[in-house]
Amino acid sequence: MEHYVLMNVVKNEDKERGIAMEQIRSIVCAGNITPKACVRTYGCQQNVADSERIKGMLSQMGYDFTEQTEEADLILFNTCAVREHAELKVYGNVGALKSLKAAKPEMLIIMCGCMMQQETVQNQIREKYAHVDIVFGPSMIPQLPMMMAQVLTERSRVFTRLELPEIAEDLPIVRDDAHKAWVSVMYGCNNFCTYCIVPYVRGRERSRSSAEIIKEIEELVASGYRDITLLGQNVNSYGKDLEGEMDFADLLAAIDRIEGNFWIRFTTSHPKDCSIKLLDTMASCKKVCHQLQLPFQSGSNKILKDMNRHYTAESYYDLIKYARKVMPDVVVTSDVIVGFPGETEEDFQATLDLVNKVQFDNLYTFLYSKRTGTKAALAENQVEESVKKERFNRLLALQHPVCLAKNQEMEGKDYPVYVESVSKNDSKVLSGKTMGGKTVDFPGSADLIGQFCTVTVTKAKSWSLEGKIKE
Ligand code: SAH
Ligand code: SF4
Ligand code: F3S
Repeated sequence: MEHYVLMNVVKNEDKERGIAMEQIRSIVCAGNITPKACVRTYGCQQNVADSERIKGMLSQMGYDFTEQTEEADLILFNTCAVREHAELKVYGNVGALKSLKAAKPEMLIIMCGCMMQQETVQNQIREKYAHVDIVFGPSMIPQLPMMMAQVLTERSRVFTRLELPEIAEDLPIVRDDAHKAWVSVMYGCNNFCTYCIVPYVRGRERSRSSAEIIKEIEELVASGYRDITLLGQNVNSYGKDLEGEMDFADLLAAIDRIEGNFWIRFTTSHPKDCSIKLLDTMASCKKVCHQLQLPFQSGSNKILKDMNRHYTAESYYDLIKYARKVMPDVVVTSDVIVGFPGETEEDFQATLDLVNKVQFDNLYTFLYSKRTGTKAALAENQVEESVKKERFNRLLALQHPVCLAKNQEMEGKDYPVYVESVSKNDSKVLSGKTMGGKTVDFPGSADLIGQFCTVTVTKAKSWSLEGKIKE
């Protein structure tokens, strides 16, 4: 008989986790079998980083990994809820697993991540996707082994919307890449921008202790990682929730002092708390990349107010001017939403004006998507889909040539580049990143991967650069 269980284990107990992982290993690896897990990640880098911890635990339970759902004994989707499109994709993909499960009933299907923290989604899955075994939100990840043990021993389904306030520090990690790494510095968000679901699904802001962050980075640097990205929904809020902790600028400066040859980046910062101190710190630290991802969302002060963003188009532009004054080579990228409720043609013109004034290196453009539970979803003056799309296309037409022009400014100049991989299309071509985060392709031999070299940019394209190694 099928029944639903709400987890009773709510603490982050390392010991319990260890026992559960051993128990699962003895079940799933019985008879010397190596079971296979397929982990799919949707959404932002926070989810990518979460999945690396999920894989760390699965690996400790004895699982190997596969990309193919057909050959998997466990399928886990780590989902995103930020726009409707992201959710529809997940429903489609999980529906497609039904026949796999019918053919292999002992297989485990697990859904987690932001989308799964929502009550309506859990109800849908409970009722319409009977082949899914476990459903939980982002903060319950450390409890995965306990939930799996429950399902494997009782063959029940587990659905939980519990939120764990603590951060589990010592989870094992299987990193996707041997050269660049993600390090979460804080979780959650307190900002409640009126369009955004993230604060509802990721909970309140929680910062990791700086000692833990520094320890993780020291270990990464010692094991050869050279490109490290600090993650948080709003990294500038770092430390506000901890007594006597440093702020984000102090944290950057402390990381900069760690010995070794490596680069440090971060994402994302909110303009309302992007301080002069932070920009000055970026400018003065040697290892901190001059890369600023600073979402502005709209150029209209009326819309910004309705979005609950707490800055104006003018103050945003001032910030960018200051950043460029102290870091002339800074690469500035941003997010913008088109068609927020009540956006008039005039409001949209203000967005175009700001985009034109700033000249972003790159812009991530989104059509406003109504998220149930947020304030903006209740607004009656929703913008028509056709109007949104038409504005969206005008925005792309404005930004597209700017991306190319920005890259053209780099032609003929030399840049330090971190070599990441061999190009997918040509085995004699390497692909690397500049400190600003731009991709450069250049001829070279694969033994340079994981090293820094100086590259002269020879040709600019809209989304990447071509170059040659400077002798
Ligand atoms: N915490 C980050 C962004 C997280 S979500 C920040 O505040 O900068 C990433 C981007 O998705 C946002 O910057 C926003 O541009 C977009 N986004 C969030 N909610 C959205 C919605 N309901 N519709 C369309 N775009 C949205
Ligand atoms: Fe969402 Fe705003 Fe928080 Fe970013 S700062 S995650 S956009 S609520
Ligand atoms: Fe999506 Fe959650 Fe990130 S909603 S964008 S995966 S924080």
